[in-house]
Amino acid sequence: MAILLASRFGAHDLAVWRDALQGVLPEETLLTEPVAGRAHEIDIALAANPPAGALRGLPALRLVQSLWAGVEGLLADRSLPADVPLARMVDPAMNAAMAETAAWAVLSLHRGFFDYAAQQREARWQTHRQRRADEVCVGVLGLGEMGRTVALRLVRDGYRVMGWSTRAAPVAGVHTGAGEAALNALLSAAEIVINLLPLTPATRGFFDARRLAQLRPGAALVNLARGAHVVDEALLAALDAGQIGHAVLDAFEHEPLPAAHPYWSHPKVTLLPHVAAQTDPRSAAQVVAGNVRALRAGRPLAHLVDRSRGY
Ligand code: NAP
Ligand code: GLV
Repeated sequence: MAILLASRFGAHDLAVWRDALQGVLPEETLLTEPVAGRAHEIDIALAANPPAGALRGLPALRLVQSLWAGVEGLLADRSLPADVPLARMVDPAMNAAMAETAAWAVLSLHRGFFDYAAQQREARWQTHRQRRADEVCVGVLGLGEMGRTVALRLVRDGYRVMGWSTRAAPVAGVHTGAGEAALNALLSAAEIVINLLPLTPATRGFFDARRLAQLRPGAALVNLARGAHVVDEALLAALDAGQIGHAVLDAFEHEPLPAAHPYWSHPKVTLLPHVAAQTDPRSAAQVVAGNVRALRAGRPLAHLVDRSRGY
């Protein structure tokens, strides 16, 4: 049998991944495309955000292992067989990277560092009142692998943290809740809201004009999940009106973000090119190996996606 690495990787990344995977799975045959005559050998596909249709014509497929944490792209791909288990990437190293990005965004907002950077561009010397972390309430939407790690990091850094998820997962030191009332309580209390929800039919367009109006006036939005969670026109209007004080955006509905998009030059937007938590081949290959060996040995697979929930 063989493993297909289905990706959009260029030659360099492909070589890095091939080395990392072959290093932990030396006994496996790794193909980087379903070469003619060998498609019937492929029983595992590793999917790194591949182009739609990449999983078509693989009759022996028994596992699709995403190399990304978010799987909405794969779930929308009609070449993903309905009866083949789909596992997503869950890697503590990736969660830690996300926590670093969130900590940077929260600290920069809390201490006004984005404002000071803007002042520097104007050669303007002006100080603002310094606040303690425990004066700042941060809300984290989504308390899964990423959200929980982020919330715990922020608690450790001294912030007051509220969290929201479908099942109100308890997180030490975090005031957690579920449902509309808990969401309203979080949105009206937090001065920084971090989005770490998965993109599903229930969360697409989550930050529309109505929801942005529920945030505290002047609150900051930190979107580290998916661009389609945010209605861009609504966020731009809320920024211009002062309802949202600053937005830190790492993900966009269309990536790369088009050069003409107003986010690029908006003074209240800090942009990252979808790098909040990149999959690290060194640790992710170990996660992949765990599931490959489980499949080969007939043991339960880890991190399976619940397709009815969409994550
Ligand atoms: P996860 O472990 O599946 O956690 C998802 C969390 O969201 C869970 O707590 C879940 O609640 C909650 N949730 C889902 N739908 C909800 C809804 N409708 N209302 C309220 N809560 C809801 O996912 P993860 O690994 O933390 O990753 C989260 C997302 O981060 C990914 O899907 C991806 O989009 C994004 N991501 C971005 C980057 C980047 O570089 N920007 C990197 C990796 C991941 P329950 O626990 O109660 O089910
Ligand atoms: C990146 O955005 C991921 O979902 O892993």
